[in-house]
Amino acid sequence: MTTTDVQAIVLAAGKSSRFKTGRSKLLERVCGQSIILYPTTLFSSLSIPTTLVVGHQKEDIQSKVQEKHPEVTFVTQKEQNGTGHAILCTKDTWKKDHILIMNGDMPLVTEEIIQALYTKHIQKNAAVSFVMAHNADPSLGSYGRVVKTDDTIKIVEAKDFDGDAHENCCINAGIYIVKRTFLEQHISDLDQTNAAKEFYFTDLIKIASDEQQTVATISAPFDRIRGVNTMQELWAAEHIKRAELIRYWMNRGVRFSVAQNVHIDLDVEIGAGTYVGCGAHIIKGSKIGKDCVIHESSSLENVILGDKCDVYSHCILKDSIIGNNVKIGPFAHVREHATIGDNAVVGNFVEIKKSTLGTNTKAKHLSYLGDAHIGNNVNIGAGTITCNHNGVKKNVTTIKDNAYIGSNSSLVAPVTIGTGAYTAAGSTITKNVADNDLAIGRARQINKKNYASLIRERNTQQAAQETEEDTTDATFIGARKTKNTASTQHD
Ligand code: UD1
Ligand code: CA
Repeated sequence: MTTTDVQAIVLAAGKSSRFKTGRSKLLERVCGQSIILYPTTLFSSLSIPTTLVVGHQKEDIQSKVQEKHPEVTFVTQKEQNGTGHAILCTKDTWKKDHILIMNGDMPLVTEEIIQALYTKHIQKNAAVSFVMAHNADPSLGSYGRVVKTDDTIKIVEAKDFDGDAHENCCINAGIYIVKRTFLEQHISDLDQTNAAKEFYFTDLIKIASDEQQTVATISAPFDRIRGVNTMQELWAAEHIKRAELIRYWMNRGVRFSVAQNVHIDLDVEIGAGTYVGCGAHIIKGSKIGKDCVIHESSSLENVILGDKCDVYSHCILKDSIIGNNVKIGPFAHVREHATIGDNAVVGNFVEIKKSTLGTNTKAKHLSYLGDAHIGNNVNIGAGTITCNHNGVKKNVTTIKDNAYIGSNSSLVAPVTIGTGAYTAAGSTITKNVADNDLAIGRARQINKKNYASLIRERNTQQAAQETEEDTTDATFIGARKTKNTASTQHD
């Protein structure tokens, strides 16, 4: 919109009582973005200066909006006496010729709807213009009904409406443009003589109509103007938004195996040729490369994943950067700024925390690698643990290129394993290992000739003696104890 004669007011002070959480619904997220950021982002992209009316959870809403839109200004509505009262509170900010007003709880509105309303408002030289939608479902009882005759129009709020919801199936969307002069003249005419005892902003339409001022309307699809008042409406709005995102990525070559069962956020990116399995969560700005396979029930949160990667099922990847052609999982946990190089393998039941793994490095089974710098071409044997915590602080483990860490090694940090060095399986490594050395940190093995038979014989005799001594005939719940000499034998 190129106009400079419009300013916007977004209503965000309400108590969200129908939401039943005690918190403002406007802080709830739809596809990862707080509901209140949808209208502010919309007006920011249309370059319309915006004022937000805040009240309930004012500080939280204000800081959430300021973070993204520092240019937005705020007005406080101390008591939530209705939408008309909320707008009255902004009176001192009215400077432009036209005031665009929108409910804060509408995450699905598009720029096109705002453009169309403005164009109609100007064309008709209307005192007030608003968006309506057809909704014949009377169970959605939270919408004001648009009631028209040949020459009158008014909005009757759901609580005050006693007409036929099918006859009056046009509802008020909650987006209005009002001439400033008209608003200044009539905002004080609103009263609280209604079922909710609130100042309804929507009464302004009847006032304009009674004054024979022009009231212009446009129609929009109901799914674009849905408000979020209840948990069920939040679910419905998010479902629509997510379907939109999934369609967007499908159009760019992403395959979703069970699209209705995937969670993706507004700010994620997915490369062409990638397959997303059932129950995957791709959230918080994650960027997935091309030709990857994200198997079922894996979660990627704030992760950058390169091309041609396989993330097998039940992995949790968070705040980390992963290269190309990497294989992860199943059941892997990668977190706290881990960096994983190209062609690496992070296998089943491997946890990686705040560590770097170089190119071609493999930790295929059952390991914990925390606070570690691990070079290229390193092999981490099954069961390897970096003992990074000394009871007080975390220490670093360094493993240089081409090292080979034997299975079940405990690397007690701080410790460095040199380039090409080996640790023997089952070692506890407490001292640095120089390049190409072999470290063995375990008790030396002794084999005792025929000792197994001797032990077996001794144990058998001992067990027989114990059974003879046991003359009690105790009754157990559900079963009588029987003497069973065979009980010492193993099948
Ligand atoms: C409102 C409209 C209704 C319309 C519907 C569309 C009124 C009286 N009714 O009803 O005609 O069909 O939106 O979704 O306007 N708010 C304040 N201060 C208050 C009360 C509310 O800032 O004192 C804010 C809320 O935070 C919310 C917005 O105004 O963002 C709308 O309030 P809400 O209670 O959701 O209005 P509805 O009952 O949905
Ligand atoms: Ca609402």
